[in-house]
Amino acid sequence: MIPQHIVSNIIETAQIEEVVGDFVSLKKRGSNYVANCPFHNERTPSFSVSPSKGIFKCFGCGKAGNSVGFVMEHETVSYPEALRYLAKKYNIEIPEITDDKQLEEQKERESLFIVNDFANQYFQNNLYHTDEGKSVGLSYFKERGFRDEIIQKFQLGYSMEASDDLLKAAKKKGYRLGFLKKLGLMSSRNGRDFSFFRGRVQFPIHNLSGKVIAFAGRTLRKDKKIPKYINSPETDIYNKSKILYGIYFARKSIRQKDECFLVEGYTDVLSLVQAGVENVVASSGTSLTQEQIRLVKRYTSNITILYDGDEAGIKAAIRGVDLVLEEGLNVKVALLPDGEDPDSFIQKMGKTGFDNYIKEKAKDFIFFKTDLLLKETENDPVKKAALVRNIIQTLAKIPDPIKRALYVKECSKLLEVSERMIINETNKIKWTNIKKGQDGQPQQSRRQGNMPPPSSPPDDFYLEQQQGKTYEPTLDRPRELVELSNELHERDLVRVLLEYGQKEIEIDVPVAAYVVNEVEELPFEKQIYRTIVEHYRAHLEEGRVLDSDFFVSHENEEISRLAASIICDPYQLSENWEKMHQIFITEAVLLFKEEVFNLMNRYKLRHVMKMIDENLQNIKDCKTEADIRELQETHMQLLNWQKQLAQLLKTAVVR
Ligand code: CTP
Ligand code: MN
Repeated sequence: MIPQHIVSNIIETAQIEEVVGDFVSLKKRGSNYVANCPFHNERTPSFSVSPSKGIFKCFGCGKAGNSVGFVMEHETVSYPEALRYLAKKYNIEIPEITDDKQLEEQKERESLFIVNDFANQYFQNNLYHTDEGKSVGLSYFKERGFRDEIIQKFQLGYSMEASDDLLKAAKKKGYRLGFLKKLGLMSSRNGRDFSFFRGRVQFPIHNLSGKVIAFAGRTLRKDKKIPKYINSPETDIYNKSKILYGIYFARKSIRQKDECFLVEGYTDVLSLVQAGVENVVASSGTSLTQEQIRLVKRYTSNITILYDGDEAGIKAAIRGVDLVLEEGLNVKVALLPDGEDPDSFIQKMGKTGFDNYIKEKAKDFIFFKTDLLLKETENDPVKKAALVRNIIQTLAKIPDPIKRALYVKECSKLLEVSERMIINETNKIKWTNIKKGQDGQPQQSRRQGNMPPPSSPPDDFYLEQQQGKTYEPTLDRPRELVELSNELHERDLVRVLLEYGQKEIEIDVPVAAYVVNEVEELPFEKQIYRTIVEHYRAHLEEGRVLDSDFFVSHENEEISRLAASIICDPYQLSENWEKMHQIFITEAVLLFKEEVFNLMNRYKLRHVMKMIDENLQNIKDCKTEADIRELQETHMQLLNWQKQLAQLLKTAVVR
């Protein structure tokens, strides 16, 4: 345990830009720094570091946090490990542990790692340097098509038939029986101690830092009565629901490819890696747990599950995946041809064959499930209704509203039911789950930490927008959409806060939280508007949403007068808007969600335009070829945003 005052000292001392700068090359931009995000693949930087706030945030993948969080994420270490790293960097001394019990536990864990490491060496030694190991174990691996480099990389080994061989070897090196037993390497029956793994090929299981935490042993006999694989029991260092086989070797590649293949078996991992598909992990034949999914999520949000094409495989595919969706991952499923598992398939087809097959066959999970169940229902209306309910349950688990909306659209086509009906039903389920506290997130943290992503409109809004409404082709002048005076914009923003602040724009997300969360970058010209927004922010941080009364009866007279005047004339700006742009505002625009959403988009559009101006200035000032190219890339990206935002605003006002 690191004492609390040391922890605070570390956190206060660590400068976010220095910590991040050790791993990522940062470029100064205004008072912040930007870089290509180290957590996902990108060509234009959306990763930003704010020294004043002491945080990093990626607007692409959404990862954010302070310097400790950055080290944890980037180096995949635990909280205390990250603190120790930072302490070392800043020469902060951490007093030695004084708590005896903890010291004891730490020693014990270290011993377990050491003994496992010994066993791992021992099994490998058997495989390469004993007659039995070579003739039985090594030749088995060779027969199965595994080459030396893969056998060595995964540190495969062999456990001798003789039930006292391991103990003899351990004693020679001075390791105690007690630890071997704790690790499940030795068992005892009727007062006799014997090796748990005997005459099996051995697969060590590694944690994220590459230490061996457990073993699996595969029998070489055909006898169906013997279990094919046996595994180490759970111990202080091995919790099987928290680890995935192969993750230690795969993590770099998963991050680079921004995708993770999930297979069932140890040998599937070996064969894929051998063929050059390195971003693969195995669930080891059990259904996925939330912890395992979060493990993958550290590196990518795209997961492709490979299952055998038989019935058991299909059933397994359907069972495990709702959980993955809940975690917000994109899930694809690929069924292999009947009778094949990933191991046999890639050995037969090679990497190219495998890649092509995946490209062609991997289906988005929801469509996979819909398709599959649809085939079962044929023309039975009762079964069909059950299917629709089933799919809706799955859809309700997707946390991102935009993604959900897209799925709803596709599923409505497949199922031949209206989008409206699916939306209503999914919303109902979401509500019930949240009231029951079942949406996987504590209410508190949702309120404070889980705002919708930037630009995420309410589901319905987005959907309707895609339903073939035609855009006005001539209205292609984004600046006109936001060329109100700054003051009017600021006033409009405050009006929306006062008027709708407490309403929910998304389930459990009040408008105020959404708006305040998005308003970061643009400075306010009038201090009073800023003050009001800051009031909202401060109270939101304590979980409270202010109402307009708070401001109307505020002790500061300027605030109370302004608040009163704004709420007395709620449509002032809308009218103004109309006059200035001769844009006909339909009833729909007055719906509050749209209004809030449009406000935010106007706000963003203004911001993007400001960035474009700044960037153009930078291009003018720029000296080197490479920098210019980069700035031009940024320019294109910004223009693209501008276009998208203008498009959204146009559709909103036109219809
Ligand atoms: N498994 C297990 N215990 C068993 C059987 C299976 O732990 N008795 C786990 C293993 O992780 C195994 C996975 O389930 O890798 C998939 O099982 P299976 O498909 O039967 O084995 P394969 O991985 O295909 O192994 P092999 O190719 O060696 O037959
Ligand atoms: Mn197999």
